[in-house]
Amino acid sequence: MPESFEVSASAGSYLVAVGQGLLKKVIADNPDALFMVDDYLASTLPIPETRRILVNAAESNKSLERMPEIVLKLRELGANRGSHLVVIGGGVIQDIATFSASIYMRGIRWTYMPTTLLSMADSCIGGKSSINVLGYKNLVGNFYPPKEVLIDADFVATLDAEKVVGGLFEAAKICYARSYQDFQAYLSEGPAAKMSAEKVQGIIVRALRTKKWFIEIDEFDQKERLLLNFGHTFGHAIEAGTDFGVSHGIAVGVGMMIAVEYARKRGWLSASGIERTSGLTSHVKAMLKVDGSSIVTAPEAIDLKLVMEKFNNDKKHLSNVYRMICPCGDGELEVVSEPKNEEVRRDIASAYESALGEIGWTCSS
Ligand SMILES: NC(=O)c1ccc[n+]([C@@H]2O[C@H](COP(=O)([O-])OP(=O)(O)OC[C@H]3O[C@@H](n4cnc5c(N)ncnc54)[C@H](O)[C@@H]3O)[C@@H](O)[C@H]2O)c1
Ligand SMILES: [Zn+2]
Repeated sequence: MPESFEVSASAGSYLVAVGQGLLKKVIADNPDALFMVDDYLASTLPIPETRRILVNAAESNKSLERMPEIVLKLRELGANRGSHLVVIGGGVIQDIATFSASIYMRGIRWTYMPTTLLSMADSCIGGKSSINVLGYKNLVGNFYPPKEVLIDADFVATLDAEKVVGGLFEAAKICYARSYQDFQAYLSEGPAAKMSAEKVQGIIVRALRTKKWFIEIDEFDQKERLLLNFGHTFGHAIEAGTDFGVSHGIAVGVGMMIAVEYARKRGWLSASGIERTSGLTSHVKAMLKVDGSSIVTAPEAIDLKLVMEKFNNDKKHLSNVYRMICPCGDGELEVVSEPKNEEVRRDIASAYESALGEIGWTCSS
């Protein structure tokens, strides 16, 4: 059974529908729309060339440097202020679409159909775009939610285990950030690298309804929503420090382990905090393996110096303190500020080394 709910935003509320078999309907219902589509999916979608823009979902294309091409393609297809853009693809396509739809003729209407579990269970709501600039991850962006989000759980069938697990890590992050009970409820949905479409739908709905709380109470990332960056500051540095060889969702899962490790080193966790965060790190470790084999090709060796350099340059830090989301006390997340000094950098690097060691990834320094 399809499920739907509304998300309120300052630009107006938008509908989120989650079900199966929605793709055919979105194409049939929008005979005049223009489509922006992940080129990987193009051959499976009956959309005429005259109405579609194909975009390769490479992290390098999600950049300010590539925006003029996208804007020009919209112009070539005849897009005007009244045009409706239907976007079909994962998080990279979503970021490109959010940004380009927001600036094209000062903003055109768009509908989003996410096709990776990460985009279905997390990024499709909230309205954010994050665009890389000259190798710096997600350095610029804005808020421009679609008018409608239509989620077809059937897309998950063609995702490999790494992409499914990357999406699950974002879903786990949202639920853990809300409360330990929400994280337990997420685990009770039975997240796994291989799942039926019904199970996937349950996880998507749980994650999105939980995320809805954060984005409605704090649309513009001032307080509560900041907690959804859990795993990201540590994870982005791994993505960027491996030239995006580690995918976003996997880096977020590993980043949550590093945040937990850092909090333990600092002595911020009570006995119950240690137990609760262990529940999370055990889940991440378990998901990284299927039948005893790793689902991710581990980078040969992580260049810790480069990763630390990327960590240092993260836009979330302030001029004199590192800002991170870490578990404290009984495991609840907090925004913590640490002075930018040698001791802190040494402990952060050591948290990277310990957590990466736990999943069998080695570091060179
Ligand atoms: N704006 C936000 O709020 C937000 C939130 C989280 C993540 N993100 C961004 O999203 C990106 C990661 O998203 P993603 O993991 O969805 O990446 P993605 O869009 O790059 O997709 C990953 C790969 O899966 C392929 N793919 C897409 N749909 C498929 C399908 N149904 N079957 C098989 N393959 C398919 C793509 O072609 C691509 O090769 C990162 O750049 C991250 O920064 C943005
Ligand atoms: Zn993310």
